[in-house]
Amino acid sequence: MKTDLNTIQNLILKAAENARRETADEPEPEKPKKSKWPIACTVGPGLEGAIACESKVGYVNGTKGWLVYRGYDIFDLCARSTFEEVSYLLLHGKMPNMAELTIFKEKLFNYTRINKVVRQLMGFPIEQMSVMGALRLGANLMRREYSDLDMASARPASFEAISSDEDSIAMETTPHGSNHATFEFKSRSNRKAAKSKRGFDKLSGLEDSYHLIAGISCIAAATSRLHNDKLPLEPQPDLSHAANLIYMITGKKPSPVEERVMDIALILHADHGMNASTFATMVVASTLADIYFSVGAGIAALSGPLHGGANEDVIRNLREIGSAKNVKPWVKKKLDQKKKVSGFGHRVYKAYDPRARILGPLAGLLLKEKPELNPLFEVAQELEKTVMDMFGKEKKIFPNVDFYSGLIYSSLGFDEELFTPMFAASRVSGWTARVLEYMEKNRIFRPRGLYTGEFNQMYVPIDQRK
Ligand code: ACO
Repeated sequence: MKTDLNTIQNLILKAAENARRETADEPEPEKPKKSKWPIACTVGPGLEGAIACESKVGYVNGTKGWLVYRGYDIFDLCARSTFEEVSYLLLHGKMPNMAELTIFKEKLFNYTRINKVVRQLMGFPIEQMSVMGALRLGANLMRREYSDLDMASARPASFEAISSDEDSIAMETTPHGSNHATFEFKSRSNRKAAKSKRGFDKLSGLEDSYHLIAGISCIAAATSRLHNDKLPLEPQPDLSHAANLIYMITGKKPSPVEERVMDIALILHADHGMNASTFATMVVASTLADIYFSVGAGIAALSGPLHGGANEDVIRNLREIGSAKNVKPWVKKKLDQKKKVSGFGHRVYKAYDPRARILGPLAGLLLKEKPELNPLFEVAQELEKTVMDMFGKEKKIFPNVDFYSGLIYSSLGFDEELFTPMFAASRVSGWTARVLEYMEKNRIFRPRGLYTGEFNQMYVPIDQRK
């Protein structure tokens, strides 16, 4: 079968059909409606179940296996849209028309020219740094490109902030939120001077978001090349964001199929509810720190193995297993050791993760052309079958987004250390979209800890202590 873009689209439409059929018996969720705060919800440890804010950016339904960006179904977006269009949709809340998309693409491309940041990055011992570490530093250097952000005058006026310390409020006090702090993203010196006004300057916030979406990809690519003793590459004006990303990493312009698969991987990772990195980004933004610091926090949160790192583990496991016949004994040993199998299970999805549903067939498609990686795909398929047969249906454990993404990135020629940074390169769209939305009615995040310690301890001078 000749692989072309229609083949890819058909695979996605087929995956969508399977998803609908397999979850048809699950009840339709109640349409979420605007709530009156304070809101009642059951909260578990780690804020599980807590509702922290309202959002129109994206929606996840774990039992139906739905992922929706601004009302658009993820299968539809992957079948027909592009990462640029989806980023615009997330940030602006609507699909761009032709003129808007053209301008957005031009802006994104212009913001990929971050040579100064890359040069500065090369002044650090980058060869000893993980790519995620470099991204964290790079986001900070991008911020410093506009040095006014570090000047006292660039800081939001203190009267705009509400108290960050509510410990003086008795714990039983009902939460209330009449005031809200808003943020005026400081306009850059090379933009038109922003009129000084109290409140949220969405325009400069959007420009910063474009800058970050473009820049994070470039820093990831540049760092990976430096790790391989190669010089960073400048993006090409005739390439899409996805194609440029592949080009800036590998030095080769991708085939249309490779470009499309990368584009879909970027679309799939762009937003996913109030996950840890999104929440971290929003918590920092809610203090009125600027959006570069906020995205830096998101990168830091994503770097943890419980969040963004499982895809690297999956590839290592597939290599360790080596061949399909070793899968069953490997899984048994893992479970006997009370370990989990990376790439399976999800806190929210109790149906097949729609992202894995799309990435699985796409990995198979790409790997057909890579005989050296094909055995890994066979191991992955056998592993999926084994885990699902063992307890998939009963415990509702299915492959998650990390199960097949590493295979796709490997077949595109990316090193393992780039898997999580690719997640960041995409998720930065969701992070910034949610920050911009939240800033319109900001209230600093300040949950409580349940104090289980002592009271009435008597102070004993140190020389009298036992
Ligand atoms: N392998 C084997 N058993 C599993 C797995 C797995 N991957 N995931 C869950 N289970 C089992 C648990 O052992 C538990 O069994 P029990 O009821 O007999 O004790 C049951 O399923 C429920 O598991 P929890 O850990 O309570 O599920 P939770 O929702 O808290 O965890 C998580 C979700 C963290 C993703 C978990 O499934 C896991 O660790 N998976 C492996 C790591 C991974 O792939 N992470 C990437 C997630 S996607 C992302 O973050 C982008």
